[in-house]
Amino acid sequence: MNTSVNNTNTSTQSPHTIPKRLKWRPSMFCAAAVFALSLALVLNIKNPLTLKPNFILNLRRLILIARRQPQTEYISGRPPCVLWMAPFLSPGGYSSEAWSYITALHDHAGDRFKLQIDHHGDLQSIEFWLGLPEESQRLAYDLHGTQCSSKETIVVCHSEPGAWYPPLFETSPCPPDGYEDPVFVVGRTMFETDRLNPEHVARCNRMDAVWVPTEFHVSSFLRSGVDPAKVIKVVQPVDVEFFDPAKHEPLALPLGSPVLGSNSSNLGRHEFVFLSVFKWEHRKGWDVLLKAYLEEFSKADGVALYLLTNAYHSDNDFASEIKVFVEMSKLKEPSDGWAPIYLLDAHIPQSDLPRIYKAADAFVLPSRGEGWGRPIVEAMAMAMPVITTNWSGPTEYLTEENAYPLPVDRMSELKEGPFRGHLRAEPSAEQLKVLMRHVVNNPEEGRRKGRKARSDMIERFSPQIVARIVVDHIMNIVNNSSERTR
Ligand SMILES: *[C@@H]1O[C@H](CO)[C@@H](O)[C@H](O)[C@H]1NC(C)=O
Ligand SMILES: *[C@@H]1O[C@H](CO)[C@@H](O)[C@H](O)[C@H]1NC(C)=O
Ligand SMILES: *[C@@H]1O[C@H](CO)[C@@H](O)[C@H](O)[C@H]1NC(C)=O
Ligand SMILES: *[C@@H]1O[C@H](CO)[C@@H](O)[C@H](O)[C@H]1NC(C)=O
Repeated sequence: MNTSVNNTNTSTQSPHTIPKRLKWRPSMFCAAAVFALSLALVLNIKNPLTLKPNFILNLRRLILIARRQPQTEYISGRPPCVLWMAPFLSPGGYSSEAWSYITALHDHAGDRFKLQIDHHGDLQSIEFWLGLPEESQRLAYDLHGTQCSSKETIVVCHSEPGAWYPPLFETSPCPPDGYEDPVFVVGRTMFETDRLNPEHVARCNRMDAVWVPTEFHVSSFLRSGVDPAKVIKVVQPVDVEFFDPAKHEPLALPLGSPVLGSNSSNLGRHEFVFLSVFKWEHRKGWDVLLKAYLEEFSKADGVALYLLTNAYHSDNDFASEIKVFVEMSKLKEPSDGWAPIYLLDAHIPQSDLPRIYKAADAFVLPSRGEGWGRPIVEAMAMAMPVITTNWSGPTEYLTEENAYPLPVDRMSELKEGPFRGHLRAEPSAEQLKVLMRHVVNNPEEGRRKGRKARSDMIERFSPQIVARIVVDHIMNIVNNSSERTR
């Protein structure tokens, strides 16, 4: 990573800055440090010997950034400043998307504008932070320390609209002090159903612009009533340098014992490994995946299914959920035994992700709706054949040439929760069986699609390409606003 670009921290005070009254802005980075500190104390008391030196080091740094409050503010407004607020310290889709943007902008935007980041929109997780590559952590310290005057700032609120000012739940608001001060406020969001609810539409329309990742969202947002003049498609980057199959050794499998079925007995023979990566929720279609896989395959097929999943906002016991599901759905165990299912629910650090993709032969995710589908594009960048539902966000990049688009049986209505009445797709379990069997039987075709997938990712979503798109939009805003004030 290029770290020489645009390092605007406290040590380099330009003559264009003058000291101003110190303004305390409660920062979630600070909350994270406090959280980490209390965590450390608890661990320390219980078991002082297991506290890794690395952890202490990280903790010190975290506290350091929390303390680094701006002491000066730019008044000249040159170069302009972009404050990007997102759930940087949480696992999940918005977080990895936000990381991909700020990394791309840091590496490729040159010095067109200053970039500042702050945490917003979700609970922070020290475990997630510690799993980040060190260079990402360093980037976060630097960018969090960038100083901007709020009157010269373009704010990007990258989260679900419920987190925007004034937030509907407890989170640091974005923009931090409402809509008056910033030059321009962008809401970056997406949705996984066919529409937005009226509250979210109203929140989108309060923004100066709404950036969405795909054509699917442009049409669903407009259909729901968001001002067409404000909705702009801005695709998201995938780190094709990091997710590069040439750069990683596969993780050695099996990892532990299967939660269903048994370890392959025919040692030496290569198992065909399916991988799925998702947050454990109904939307991700894990029920469809288990049903199709267990009905289609048995132990004799020499296949395995690895599920990399996390609880996110719940703390489920996935192994028992899987066993209960198998019992409830009355699936019959084949005479030679279940095809094995393995769980990778230990928190795998982000830095090991490519090795997991590399260890698998195909990626499968029969989701009912996706905003973008980070794991899908990561698998595609890793040149894997991908089977995933042909609906919502992924239609932006899925083709017959670069993947196996999974047909939809029908649309289904959400029956409860805040999005009651919205529609999502029901992927076809029967077609999923056909496609999974097909990739096992046609490995050469799968590899060909995988190569095409990687080249499509590089061409359309590499950090350089997407950084240019974002910089163009920002410069457009800067141009317009300077005309306005002149
Ligand atoms: C399956 O293999 C893994 C890795 O070799 C091993 O740790 C585990 O104990 C095995 N499980 C069974 C049930 O044999
Ligand atoms: C995927 O969906 C598009 C419409 O969004 C359709 O044109 C295309 O034929 C579908 N592909 C498959 C394989 O179902
Ligand atoms: C902004 O204005 C500059 C100078 O007038 C021009 O060169 C540039 O192309 C404009 N950029 C955009 C995105 O409109
Ligand atoms: C900037 O101004 C141009 C020309 O008036 C307009 O087309 C464009 O939508 C404006 N962009 C923004 C981000 O306001």
